[in-house]
Amino acid sequence: MHDPEALRSLHVERFHVEPEVFAAPGRVNLIGEHTDYAEGFVMPAAIDFATLAGISPRSDGKIVIYSQNYGKERAFEAAGLPPSASQHWSDYPIGVTAMLAQEGHRIPGFSLSLWGDVPLGSGLSSSAAVEVSTALAVTSLLGVTYPGPQLARLCQRAENHFVGASSGIMDQFISANGAKDHALLLDCRDLSYKLAPIPPSVSLVIANTMVKHTVSGGEYTTRRKEVEEATAVIGRHRPEVRFLRDATVEDLAEYGAEMSPNALKRARHVVTENRRTVAAADALISHDLLELGRLMAEAHRSYSQDFEASCAECDIMVELAQDLPGLIGARLTGGGFGGCTVNLVEADEAPSFAELLGQRYAAKTGIVPQIHLCHASGGAHRVDVRIQSVK
Ligand code: GLA
Repeated sequence: MHDPEALRSLHVERFHVEPEVFAAPGRVNLIGEHTDYAEGFVMPAAIDFATLAGISPRSDGKIVIYSQNYGKERAFEAAGLPPSASQHWSDYPIGVTAMLAQEGHRIPGFSLSLWGDVPLGSGLSSSAAVEVSTALAVTSLLGVTYPGPQLARLCQRAENHFVGASSGIMDQFISANGAKDHALLLDCRDLSYKLAPIPPSVSLVIANTMVKHTVSGGEYTTRRKEVEEATAVIGRHRPEVRFLRDATVEDLAEYGAEMSPNALKRARHVVTENRRTVAAADALISHDLLELGRLMAEAHRSYSQDFEASCAECDIMVELAQDLPGLIGARLTGGGFGGCTVNLVEADEAPSFAELLGQRYAAKTGIVPQIHLCHASGGAHRVDVRIQSVK
């Protein structure tokens, strides 16, 4: 639950002053995985899990950040922000603040309280939700407005240059720019996008395998390097190819032998995934749900076999969904190596689908999963705590 009224009370109790409150959602990606940093296409939707940020000014020159999720507070000097990350939850809000300072803003003292319900480490972009809600809060305190795409870029820089995770733009972009009841086909080259309505007859069922996922370090970074290796090989022959967005399956056939076997497989995933993502948006827009489901299944196979970013539990969760009534399409969503699967399900079947999937997964793996029925929600925004609450 993310309850703006509860966040407001918490902030007032702790800091003795009324906050301004902002909300930024997590996301689920319907298709288009590890294509964002290849300047390709992704199709995420913001979901109704979010982080709330309450902010109020201080006169002692300090930045005091309290996380209700961690039950911890940290304090910094506004005039002397740390230059790099300390492997701590506060890296995300401080990283965003440091990027604003780098852009020339004079950062005043403030109190920031954070409280969210995006499940941590589950591939639903809890960190982007913290970054984007913090960015909205701090820019509002500074009296400046960043358009959504620019706000997303700022948060991505915080993640890349401060936190040290080599992620692309997808998560921050959709958190800042999501649209209620829609997925976004985003072109990660120029950040233009097309809205793809999710009809009321289709439900988003998100199934958490409970296997922890992380973007910083490890496998995510290795995959990104392999993608870059493949790009460099093609680029030697075709200098106009600086990102896999511009490569074709013919390039892979022609130059694949010059790549390591892993780089070739990773590149095959990215090149084919870009095509699938654009086709999936067309299918969703034209209500061709059969084709959409087929593309999601193909995407999962490619992600699991060529990109090798799945895990046994994720494959099992996708497999167990296959013959359940109402399934349109299922695949592992997000950065990979754990986390959640996304299932598009006929709305009237969704509650029983969720229950059966949970039972089957628990019986097969011995792990009790969390299964969420979600809705595509709007992007980050200010919340007027006196009048309304989100969710
Ligand atoms: C993580 C990253 C994104 C994207 C996905 C994979 O969520 O933060 O930028 O690369 O993985 O599609």
